[in-house]
Amino acid sequence: MIKYDENRKIWVLEARNISYALGVSETGLINNIYFGEKLPYISDYPEARNSRDWASFTSGEGRSKEEYMAWSKIKYTEPCIKATFHDNVRDVVLKYDSFDIKDNTLTVILKDVYYPLEVRLHYTVIEDCDLIERYAEIINKGTQGIRLENVLSGSIYVPRETSYRLSYLTGKWAGETQLNQVMVPETKIVLESRRGTTSHHANPWFALDKNAEATEDNGDVYFGALAWSGNWKIVIERDNFNLIKVSAGVNDFDFAWHLKPGEKFVTPKFIVGFSNKGFGQASRNLHSYQLKYVLPENHRNSLRKVLYNSWEATGFDISEEGQIKLAEIAASLGVELFVMDDGWFGARNNDKAGLGDWYVNKEKFPNGLKPLIDKVNALGMDFGLWVEPEMVNPDSDLYRKHPDWVYHFPTRERTEARNQLILNLAREDVREYIYDFMDRLLSEYNIKFIKWDMNRNFSEPGYPSAPEEGQREIWVRHVQGVYEIVDRLRKKHPDVVFQSCSGGGGRVDLGILRYFDQVWTSDNTDAFDRLKIQEGFSYAYCAKIMEAWVTDGLNWLNGRKLSLRYRFHSSMMGNLGIGVDLMKLSEEEKQEAKELISLYKEIRPIIQHGQQYRLLSPRNSKVAAFMYVSEDKAEAILFTFLHSNSFGDELPAIRLKGLDENALYAVEGYDREISGKALMNIGINVDMRGDFDSRLIRIKKTGN
Ligand code: DGJ
Repeated sequence: MIKYDENRKIWVLEARNISYALGVSETGLINNIYFGEKLPYISDYPEARNSRDWASFTSGEGRSKEEYMAWSKIKYTEPCIKATFHDNVRDVVLKYDSFDIKDNTLTVILKDVYYPLEVRLHYTVIEDCDLIERYAEIINKGTQGIRLENVLSGSIYVPRETSYRLSYLTGKWAGETQLNQVMVPETKIVLESRRGTTSHHANPWFALDKNAEATEDNGDVYFGALAWSGNWKIVIERDNFNLIKVSAGVNDFDFAWHLKPGEKFVTPKFIVGFSNKGFGQASRNLHSYQLKYVLPENHRNSLRKVLYNSWEATGFDISEEGQIKLAEIAASLGVELFVMDDGWFGARNNDKAGLGDWYVNKEKFPNGLKPLIDKVNALGMDFGLWVEPEMVNPDSDLYRKHPDWVYHFPTRERTEARNQLILNLAREDVREYIYDFMDRLLSEYNIKFIKWDMNRNFSEPGYPSAPEEGQREIWVRHVQGVYEIVDRLRKKHPDVVFQSCSGGGGRVDLGILRYFDQVWTSDNTDAFDRLKIQEGFSYAYCAKIMEAWVTDGLNWLNGRKLSLRYRFHSSMMGNLGIGVDLMKLSEEEKQEAKELISLYKEIRPIIQHGQQYRLLSPRNSKVAAFMYVSEDKAEAILFTFLHSNSFGDELPAIRLKGLDENALYAVEGYDREISGKALMNIGINVDMRGDFDSRLIRIKKTGN
């Protein structure tokens, strides 16, 4: 619902519990006037006045809460737009022009006071998720080009308070999405990627809570995420008047965009929200947004299948016979989708050669992939395939034929990472090549799942044959290229489920999730480390998209040994996959795996479509606990993990969350029914002992 007060020129965007309000100031700026819990009347909202000047050094306009600040005049905080006009004027002066409201979307139109440059700010209220989705369009209405040097999606402000704590996610390969928390100092904190992709290093999500007061279940939390899979930045700045502004968008580092006459630049979406029920509710709002509005529509409501992936079992050492053996065991355990990973194409016997040559390796598959796929299908499973379309090994036919197809600078060495270079997706011929081979594979074979990998970040981002003004556009054009190719493939092959992978979780964001149905969370499959990675992941992303495999008992990364049950429990909290070397499983282990896979299938609707609750964090408690509750609160699953027991300590009772207070529940292991209120206030005792023990407990409503 969007309200407009014509006299005071203010708009109020109302979701279920929150509102976001903005208005036109006395000098024609668009200023934020409120963000927080919904207020009863439109008259409650203040007018959109500018702040007052602070001597001759800080202007009132510069201190105002501008929704989309242009770099001009006496304004020094992060601008949303910085541009140079054809006559070398490097100054954009935007003023309010008009607005439009259609359904749940407000569009506010701003115009430069002199040049034919128009900015359209779009705000969509995602009512049932308490979120506001915003983006901007920059339109050149003139006859001369405009050079854009910075174009963000927008800025938001949090109410002025003594201090705020910033929560954010960082990591590295095999150690993604770790939660960090710091108090915001009077300066700028820049979360960003300059790597060409979203990155393992930082993820485009943040949260701010006043005085570090918020908990999982209580307190005010402002949060946001950027829907972009390339260079991005989120700038959190606290000015010298204690105002916190958060600006997000495409990173302006090494960026420039030549906006031709009549063209427009569309920014990625910046999604912002407010929860007065702590971090848990903030996360759940983002989760339901993904489940209801972000994930590709054709597979949005279907449950994700239990997959087997051969990578950890076989590496590059694959053959038709070996894959069939694995497929037979996988099917007998209840696996629904068999995915063949790297190594099936070109001269791909290790990571030194073959990328780019997307034809079947005849030594490994003398009769093509059909015999394997037929067998997998006959076993009752779908077949999935790994590809890494954006990459090429210099040792490949593709590179020998088209050495100019990679990003490079003519006078510089082409820096390799994992022996590979990046194809220039700003080029139409490269995009066509990728689309064609993918389309050929998907048309020729009965492939139902694509794992789309991306195993390095950018270097020497040159495009020598492009015109000078287009050189720095590659950062954006590459991402648009990936989106465009996958979009075309999805339209032609709607049955195929796409997974985004970038050496694990290097490309997870709300942008990629519009084109890919799920993601590979991390190459770190140590079920204990995964608790922390998955917990961090859950702050921003839902469990349905989070692929988690059960791999070998002795983990290759940490050398940690964990029971099959613990490994399953950790992986069952997301989209369950199996990556264990099936040839090494004993009969008892196979039986146990079969039972756990069948249990997962039963509880999967609650895990993938239910509400997620973080009860005890593996970061600061030796017992970690997570819960998943069905929408109607009739069923819940509790997962608990003990790190290690010491001093014979008694473990704390685990207080549940998200249940119906007045309902009675049957809890596995208890012979009496207990009310939701008691389960949430007294909790339950879970008997775990030793090192790395775990439990999965089912909870079912029995009555009111
Ligand atoms: C990186 C991925 O994260 C792995 O799962 C695997 O697919 C390898 N690439 C294959 O090269």
